[in-house]
Amino acid sequence: MHTDLGPVTALYPSLTTIVGAHCGGRPNFLAVAHLGVLNHGQPQYLCIGLNQAHHTNAGILENRQFSVCVPGEDLLAETDYVGLVSGKTTDKSGLFELFYGHLPAAPLIRRCPVNMECRLHERIVLGVHDIFIGELVATHADPAVLTGGKIDFAKVRPLLFDMPLKKYRGLGPVLGDCWSAGKALKRKETE
Ligand SMILES: Cc1cc2nc3c(=O)[nH]c(=O)nc-3n(C[C@H](O)[C@H](O)[C@H](O)COP(=O)(O)O)c2cc1C
Repeated sequence: MHTDLGPVTALYPSLTTIVGAHCGGRPNFLAVAHLGVLNHGQPQYLCIGLNQAHHTNAGILENRQFSVCVPGEDLLAETDYVGLVSGKTTDKSGLFELFYGHLPAAPLIRRCPVNMECRLHERIVLGVHDIFIGELVATHADPAVLTGGKIDFAKVRPLLFDMPLKKYRGLGPVLGDCWSAGKALKRKETE
């Protein structure tokens, strides 16, 4: 028998990201692991869930722009730090070397191998969270993490967020090919 844990979200591990925005005229960053891929067509949309207590929310609403940066394992301490302290009391703007793409209020982090810049499409208030839906404007990747022009997560070495055990985990080995490994079962079904 499975144990009924009650309404415990079990959608982990998830990707740990650093979200950036301009708050009161200066860049601010926070750790965000509650995020999702939405319309995987054109335009592409993604969403992030930010507790309304955070400093960053007002900056996203003010400028209608934000970044979603993917740190590698080497940025574990910095990622945790921006998830521990608030821009309300601590200036986090000098922590990273920054660059900008198309959007002047979506700060991108040089040391993050992958950075996405988003235009705010919509904010949905859900309980104590703001769900920010961003339209993806551009994705910037360090050539060192590309294989055949595509982002290779084995090279990114992302931090995976394990909420139940409060741990950062690393990526494991490749286990199979998507849209391919199930073909044997599909054949069996149609036999
Ligand atoms: C690994 C990690 C993941 C986090 N994910 C989220 C998240 O998805 N949503 C959220 O609202 N807060 C999340 N937090 C908490 C915020 O990053 C944290 O409260 C931060 O200090 C808020 O910064 P700000 O007040 O400058 O915006 C996370 C913290 C950590 C350490």
